[in-house]
Amino acid sequence: MSGKEEILSEVTTKALHKERETVGSPFVENPRMTCREVNVYYGDKKAINNVNIDIARNEVIAMIGPSGCGKSTFLRCLNRMNDTIEGCRVTGDLRLDGMDIHDKNVDVVPLRARVGMVFQKPNPFPKSIFDNVAYGPKIHGLAQNKAELDEIVERSLKKAGLWDEVKDRLTQPGTGLSGGQQQRLCIARAIAVSPEVILMDEPCSALDPIATARIEELIAELRQHYSIVIVTHSMQQAARVSQRTAYFHLGDLIEVGMTDRVFTNPRHQLTEDYITGRFG
Ligand SMILES: Nc1ncnc2c1ncn2[C@@H]1O[C@H](COP(=O)(O)OP(=O)(O)OP(=O)(O)O)[C@@H](O)[C@H]1O
Ligand SMILES: [Mg+2]
Repeated sequence: MSGKEEILSEVTTKALHKERETVGSPFVENPRMTCREVNVYYGDKKAINNVNIDIARNEVIAMIGPSGCGKSTFLRCLNRMNDTIEGCRVTGDLRLDGMDIHDKNVDVVPLRARVGMVFQKPNPFPKSIFDNVAYGPKIHGLAQNKAELDEIVERSLKKAGLWDEVKDRLTQPGTGLSGGQQQRLCIARAIAVSPEVILMDEPCSALDPIATARIEELIAELRQHYSIVIVTHSMQQAARVSQRTAYFHLGDLIEVGMTDRVFTNPRHQLTEDYITGRFG
């Protein structure tokens, strides 16, 4: 490389790097999770570029951005779900209460109980309603006896706002519930193993407006006990449920801030273009 090219490439790298610097307030005091210099590759294609962000305690943080910008990919970093995807490689430092989640001593099974996940499409196990919720506590040894297990199942279904609808049919299959009920069952299943963080990837996109409203109310209640990271395509939903919003664009974390501020006074042009409907 000639001297001139070298200088040019350095300038370009700096320019790119500058563009990637997240504006707003990605960091918080006393975070539940910290993510530093996180990169994700699918084969040799980079899907997440140098993301730095904290997840606070008792917050709902919304991840928004155009399709393909890396929201789901980043969400999966938080409980090492990307490990399950062939060819996917994650670098950087991710911590839960200070614990490096990539440490060789970390077992992903308990990690995924502490950082639970709710998917776009409700995916109850082909088991009874009771067993869907009891499964996690059983494998993690959270109940000493049947009475304790019953107690955990009831408490989790109550927290998920589903108990009254299912208490007389606990032995029936979870798959026999309506879509909105199935999604609340999946939330109960995540809650049953006492998580600290719940990841939700477009949890309402398969639901009607009434079921969506029910889940949104639930998210607001759950914040008292957990941190919730929700990916959503609905800016109205992000505005209704979250305290902070993170805007992703082509694998870059562009802006993070208080939701009201991001939606009324975005600091980055790309955020503004997206929320005003000029992009995506
Ligand atoms: N399993 C995979 N193998 C290869 N590339 C992938 C894989 N999953 C995602 N990608 C690529 O990584 C990038 C980010 O994808 P991701 O699914 O995280 O985006 P997203 O923001 O969640 O999009 P959407 O809003 O459509 O769900 C895209 O370019 C996508 O094509
Ligand atoms: Mg996605």
